[in-house]
Amino acid sequence: MSVRPLIAGNWKMNGLGSESAAQLTDLVEQASEYKDVGCDILICPPALIVREMVTLTKGTNVQIGGQDCHMNVSGAHTGDISAEMLKDAGATYCIVGHSERRTDHLETNEVVKAKAEAAIAAGLIAIVCVGETLEERESGKTLSVISNQVKNSLPSDVTAQNTVVAYEPVWAIGTGKTPTPDDVAEVHAHIRSDLKSVMSDADGVRLLYGGSVKGSNAAELMALEHVNGGLVGGASLKAGDFWPIVETSI
Ligand code: 13P
Repeated sequence: MSVRPLIAGNWKMNGLGSESAAQLTDLVEQASEYKDVGCDILICPPALIVREMVTLTKGTNVQIGGQDCHMNVSGAHTGDISAEMLKDAGATYCIVGHSERRTDHLETNEVVKAKAEAAIAAGLIAIVCVGETLEERESGKTLSVISNQVKNSLPSDVTAQNTVVAYEPVWAIGTGKTPTPDDVAEVHAHIRSDLKSVMSDADGVRLLYGGSVKGSNAAELMALEHVNGGLVGGASLKAGDFWPIVETSI
């Protein structure tokens, strides 16, 4: 089954207004040279500039997403934003359960699942992140940790249209280290088979790899079976670094 890849940039807590706008404008210009780039391109900027970035990308082949949302629609949750607010600002996707949120904000699988469901209920596509720590990998627990996260963090109404799964080994994020292609292929095949046990259209779910993806390693990683795109941190901040990663899917 051929699945349209998704190349997503997660800007995390980086960038200030004018510089972010300049990088996004450069990316949009690059992408506009193609009628169809052959993949979906997504940038997830800090929530504060989502609306502005949506304006900059209107009518282009670059989409904008959130990095997180609250599990509730509205209410007394100081400092949080809801999926509905992201949708209202023009976002189309929302990352949930990134390892930095699981660590910094003690988010459990149950919380991640509720957030994914909130994102979907608001009309967004949820990008649910899973990944093992170095300790878990070294003690041979990778596949069981991933299975547990997949089983317990995915929304109960999961479909290939409303959910993307991103495999991001915690030890590969921002470190310059990546698993071997064989290791990535093994985990992705494992996720696909876990998905098959809970849904009928598992083959259509996009499985992204994330963790130190850059121009020099993207082609090899993106070509692996069951890898349907990437979730890119550091190398998504500058259009000149991100574009070669997008190009691997063109
Ligand atoms: P890096 O690409 O900087 O390793 O970050 C990956 C990531 O966490 C994307 O969500």
